[in-house]
Amino acid sequence: MSKTTKKTSGLSTDKNWWRQAAIYQIYPRSFADSNGDGIGDIKGITSRIPYLKSLSIDAVWLSPFYPSALADGGYDVDDYRDVDPKLGTLADFDEMLAGLHAEGIRVFVDIVPNHSSNLHEWFKEALAAKPGSKARNRYIFRDGKGANGELPPSDWVSHFAPSSWTHESTFGGKNNQWFLHWFAPEQPDFNWENREVQKDFLKTLKFWSDRGVDGFRIDVAHGLAKDLSEPFRSMPVHEGLEQRGNKGKGIWGDRNEVFAIYKEWRKLFNQYDPPRVAVAEAFVHPERLPLYASTKTLGQCFDFRFIETPFEANTYRIATQEAIELAKKNKSSCTWTLSNHDQIRHATKMGLNPAVNRRDWMLSNGTSHPLDMQSGTQNALAATLYILGLPGSTYMYQGEELGLHEVSDIPEKDIQDPQYLRNLKVDKGRDGCRVPLPWTATGSSFGFGSGGAHLPQPKWFADYAVEVEEKDSLSPLAIYRKALKIRKDLQTKEEIKWHKTKDVSVLHYSRPNGWHCITNFRAQSYPMPKGEILVTSSPLVGGQIPAGTTVWFKKK
Ligand code: NOJ
Repeated sequence: MSKTTKKTSGLSTDKNWWRQAAIYQIYPRSFADSNGDGIGDIKGITSRIPYLKSLSIDAVWLSPFYPSALADGGYDVDDYRDVDPKLGTLADFDEMLAGLHAEGIRVFVDIVPNHSSNLHEWFKEALAAKPGSKARNRYIFRDGKGANGELPPSDWVSHFAPSSWTHESTFGGKNNQWFLHWFAPEQPDFNWENREVQKDFLKTLKFWSDRGVDGFRIDVAHGLAKDLSEPFRSMPVHEGLEQRGNKGKGIWGDRNEVFAIYKEWRKLFNQYDPPRVAVAEAFVHPERLPLYASTKTLGQCFDFRFIETPFEANTYRIATQEAIELAKKNKSSCTWTLSNHDQIRHATKMGLNPAVNRRDWMLSNGTSHPLDMQSGTQNALAATLYILGLPGSTYMYQGEELGLHEVSDIPEKDIQDPQYLRNLKVDKGRDGCRVPLPWTATGSSFGFGSGGAHLPQPKWFADYAVEVEEKDSLSPLAIYRKALKIRKDLQTKEEIKWHKTKDVSVLHYSRPNGWHCITNFRAQSYPMPKGEILVTSSPLVGGQIPAGTTVWFKKK
């Protein structure tokens, strides 16, 4: 592990660095393209380390960069211990890691344990092998129903397709069996009862930890354990990703057996100094979140409630309080997030008229969505400052620091997301938040790379380009930079105190060191309390806080 020690020079020695960290999610294919092939890559990330440094973030989380045919944006992994040649090499990865570490920025990688891709060596082997073989037992193959096995083994519905069973002949298998996939058919689910599968993932976690990776984001962390007892239970309609309320006994979501897997992972993580950290993506009943976030399991679990909470004072207050209490249950810290690669950018969500239901993760297709971009960005900034001030860590998504909006008019021919293609085109899918970033106002693909962008960028991206916002002291980028820089001072004790306000549309809390945050959600205007203003999400008007504005200030 001496390699690791050498690289960590710019990093703090605090073992609890993750508890109140600011983590910036990079979707590598859409961040920066170094070789002009239209796809973002690892060297592109390395070239932007000064930009990442300028954000004063503690860590980056990289969405999958592994070899993949991109049936699901890289969440269909061909090889867990390599870099996709389209994105670079392991040597490029090491160079990027060293560069980030030197600047004090830690790195999370995304681990996708529920399923591989259909092009993974093991799945290819399984297809070529006989029913009942060792190779097939790494996945979930079963005989079909009907006289000739022509019907799927159960009525389970997939997240991306009508059935969660696909006949093996689709990919060339000749044994008349079906295999299970919670997501696309190109994402066959692993059989986590198989010790070989369990050991292989330990090997993967060790592989990246030994390279110096600091943490892991665990994809579909609640999905690994499944009830495969026969006859299969019935699930004729998709029960959502979460199967909320099943109390640990659902068919494939959030079963109690999953924690044995994470306890074993934790033992591995704790062999490192500092221990490797992990955050679970688990769509479960909030009461179950602490089980994933326990110090004995993964340590942290995304709490997506602000993605689903309307931008209004009362709902924000309730959501904040509930999340803080939940995190305390297992000595974890809160995980605030407003945007990620799976849902409508929050600037758009907050500027739509009529506002979309906050539970909606995607824009519906075929409906017009009148958008007030200016108020959306303003509300989004107010929401961001609100959550950045709270105790716990904040996970941000690339482009939100520019106030970037969803691209909602991607032509059908350019759409890549299986969510759109397989879900009867009911939703627009997730490509709209995955469009390559604008770095410059002009030039090929707005500075993303010299050879165009793999998803079309709209003209209005020019106004949101990094180089444009860098010249404007009131731009979202300027506000993010300012807030993230001073945020470190307020991350002392993980506590907040609520203060009474004279308007139900205004929330005011403070942190133990005399630092305050006040948000005017909807009141026409609200008097600014006495104190030294540290940062405002939009300018005060005549000494008053306008609607859709957050102010950080210090009481003398
Ligand atoms: C959650 C990921 O965030 C999403 O992008 C992906 O489609 C599914 N898991 C399947 O891996």
